[in-house]
Amino acid sequence: MLHVSSPSPLAQEVQAGLAKMPKRLSSRFFYDAEGSRIFQEIMHSPEYYLTRSEFEILETYKANLLRMFTQSEHRSFDLVELGAGDGLKTKILLGFFVDQRVDFAYAPIDISADALDGLIADVSEQWPHLQLKPQHDDYFNSLQQLSANAKSRRIVLFLGSNIGNFTPDEALDFYRQLHDRLLPGDLVLTGFDLQKHPAVIHAAYNDQQGLTKAFNLNLLRRINRELDANFNLDAFDHYETYSPETGEARSYLVSQKQQVVSIGALDLIVSFQEGEIIHTEISRKFTRSQIEQLATQAGFTLNGWFMDSKGYFADVVFTRN
Ligand code: AVJ
Repeated sequence: MLHVSSPSPLAQEVQAGLAKMPKRLSSRFFYDAEGSRIFQEIMHSPEYYLTRSEFEILETYKANLLRMFTQSEHRSFDLVELGAGDGLKTKILLGFFVDQRVDFAYAPIDISADALDGLIADVSEQWPHLQLKPQHDDYFNSLQQLSANAKSRRIVLFLGSNIGNFTPDEALDFYRQLHDRLLPGDLVLTGFDLQKHPAVIHAAYNDQQGLTKAFNLNLLRRINRELDANFNLDAFDHYETYSPETGEARSYLVSQKQQVVSIGALDLIVSFQEGEIIHTEISRKFTRSQIEQLATQAGFTLNGWFMDSKGYFADVVFTRN
């Protein structure tokens, strides 16, 4: 019998995205093993301030956060983390909560199986008694798993400004879905990168070492490997824009010459003009009033606002109404 397997999510994205004008590919496909590794390096680069800022916030305000997390008739909670990655920042909270003998379970969710496996191995070694409920999935699917009648209080973590990859409509939809699946009094802690001097933001996505460039180009390497394509990585460059009017940092791959690429698994030939772009990522930067509006429109109340000393980044607590 002839068996035709359904195309992978990456195959579907490449098929649809490279047919668009302008061409585009979603940043959700950045995170294969190599992409996750390069992102770790980005987080340590001098220009990428986001991780250091959020680290400082969690270290400084972990006791304030714990007070908010345990202020309810429930003593225990499930700490659900969307897009956990390597959990480096979350471990500040985990360690503190374990030390304080808090009754909680940690439920990390990530689209990168490699990142999740590493995190689980690491956390279970460091805190063997911590209850773990890992899930390998993307955010939207994982939201479906958050049943509306959980036994314990849910605290949802969405750190690192992952929210910045959503369009404003997607972000609102995301919090509305969370609202549907949470109960009154449940909390969401989100890391938002704030608008600031545009040069600081631009540099974070255009680092001197070329890590962001490698991260962006790795998407083409992944397509070569997984979809039998022949992108010549030397013939594409990385280009970044930041618009202080829209708050959007946008990443592009730029074809450095006129060229033709074949994507074997899709039986597809794609041509590029010299200078033609593929749009790959939006990293949105927020104002406080945008964040307040998001909370209100989705049925939450903003009742915790924690910033780093430079005021670059905010970890914000929303309570479900
Ligand atoms: C992981 C989505 C928060 O947008 O800042 C880093 C990814 N892209 N450098 C971001 C990223 C380029 C990052 N997020």
